[in-house]
Amino acid sequence: MTQLQNPTPLAAPDQADKSLAPLPKGGNSAADQVKVTAVTHWTDKLFSFQTNRPPSFRFQSGEFAMIGLADNDGKAITRAYSIASPHWDDYLEFYSIIVPDGPLTSRLRHIQIGDDIILRPKTTGTLNLARLRDGKRLYLLATGTGFAPFASLIRDPETYERFDEVILVHGCRTIAELGYSQKIVADSRAHPLIGEMVTAQLHYVPSVTRENFTQTGRITTLLADGKLASSLSLPPLDADFDRIMICGSIGLNQDIAAQLLAKNFQEGNLSSPGDYVIERAFVGDGI
Ligand code: FAD
Ligand code: A2P
Repeated sequence: MTQLQNPTPLAAPDQADKSLAPLPKGGNSAADQVKVTAVTHWTDKLFSFQTNRPPSFRFQSGEFAMIGLADNDGKAITRAYSIASPHWDDYLEFYSIIVPDGPLTSRLRHIQIGDDIILRPKTTGTLNLARLRDGKRLYLLATGTGFAPFASLIRDPETYERFDEVILVHGCRTIAELGYSQKIVADSRAHPLIGEMVTAQLHYVPSVTRENFTQTGRITTLLADGKLASSLSLPPLDADFDRIMICGSIGLNQDIAAQLLAKNFQEGNLSSPGDYVIERAFVGDGI
């Protein structure tokens, strides 16, 4: 429906150094395979790609799935990936880091249109609207590839039915690393079906920490000193009205959770919806 047909801003990485093995025979059924339909490299460490969507593949906004490739011995290497595309669209999109020597991404970085990748059918995740109590405002706080689940949530009409205002904060080291979220937000505002509600209800706050930009500083600092709310003319964070979703490094997640607990916010789950939910954007300390 809304295919992102970006020209590739960066040259695709050299194909010669790591060839993709064919998908393993026997280990993955045809139902576990999807075909790459578009690839965009945003920086030398970040790229996004689209695949076809199997008709039976269902997910909720904010969830992740296991995707992967076969290694040279035909063994599947799979990793958790948030689904960045909206649940109602007919393609799937993913936003990926490139970890130098990472078992999956050192191969995944070379995918091209027409390649097959593994997509496991099960989806899950904590960044689920059903885990949050009703409220006035929804804050979506992400660093790096932690933006991926929010790329789906900001295109879900339910997000705007549940909350009057949605505040998306994307923190990165450099301006170039904001390219993907800037494009998704611009396309969402212009979208014929959801554009009106996105334009009226979404505040997008990109912030960088290692360059000069219109907004600088870590998300934790912007929250703690009240600058985030005041720059948008919103009241300070209040557990009676504000709901929060967080997706970043372990450090970011812990630091924000500590701030929220001090303000009496309660973590939500499916049996007991709360004021905030957290998902790790990756396991480990980051690169
Ligand atoms: P790995 O061996 O998996 O990772 C090596 C090291 O690289 C990690 O220990 C960590 O220090 C660092 N690292 C891994 N991923 C990242 C990252 N995204 N940002 C910064 N540092 C990282 N990755 C994505 O690129 N996009 C996603 O949408 C995404 N969603 C995820 C959802 C969940 C719930 C989890 C747990 C992880 C997610 N990841 C995502 C991370 C992903 O699963 C892999 O770790 C990543 O693709 C690297 O795989 P690898 O095999 O190359 O390296
Ligand atoms: P900084 O540049 O000050 O380290 P990374 O690329 O390492 O995943 O970082 C992405 C963004 O997240 C960067 O802007 C980084 O800021 C920020 N960041 C890293 N750790 C934290 C943390 N514990 N709390 C808030 N922001 C963090």
